Amino acid sequence: MKKAGGADSIMKRIAFIASGRGSNFQAIIDSIANGFIQGECVRLITDNPGAYAIERSKNAGIPVSIVEFGSFESKDRYEEQLMVEMERCDADLFVLAGYMRIIGKEIVRRYYGRMINIHPALLPSFTGLHAQRQALEYGVKVAGCTVHFVDENMDHGPIIVQRAVDVHEHDDENTLAGRILEEEHNALAVAVKLFCEDKLRIEGRKVSVLI
Ligand code: GRF
Repeated sequence: MKKAGGADSIMKRIAFIASGRGSNFQAIIDSIANGFIQGECVRLITDNPGAYAIERSKNAGIPVSIVEFGSFESKDRYEEQLMVEMERCDADLFVLAGYMRIIGKEIVRRYYGRMINIHPALLPSFTGLHAQRQALEYGVKVAGCTVHFVDENMDHGPIIVQRAVDVHEHDDENTLAGRILEEEHNALAVAVKLFCEDKLRIEGRKVSVLI
């Protein structure tokens, strides 16, 4: 059985990789501030200099690294620099919180068991972009979100927490996304808390939660 997480320590160091609004990032900042999570936000890394997550980081006094995708000659060069920034964080856990790119396989391999992602669908359904729209178009009656460890396939790794929401008759993409987002904030906070308490164990595709 593989233990998720790095070396045991009282206070886990958590770094975030985000591309945009950063409400999930904020949920973890708030959950640390109110004592739900015993951890420390050590850095935000973003590929987008215009990301609102940067404001949230500044407001919380968390350092920011901007690794702008467009300023690199290739995805490989970008990923090299991303990895440099990740190494600098000396983090126990990396949270992909609205990171809108597919993370490279080398990074995934290096941080397997220490990198999680939040996706706005009940995986394995509706991977990739516009998951809420996909759910509406498919006609599901229940939608939701998933927090999972990141593996080499997109929106695929071992599942830590899922939360379901009902799809309402008159939902559009925005109303459904809003209802799911509330659950995302809660699910992500629970997953990060469990990680920080060393309660997650990965065995193949399954994640056990130690009591
Ligand atoms: C969330 O719906 C998340 O699940 C998806 O992108 C969105 C990011 O929202 N991956 P935010 O930036 O955390 O507010």
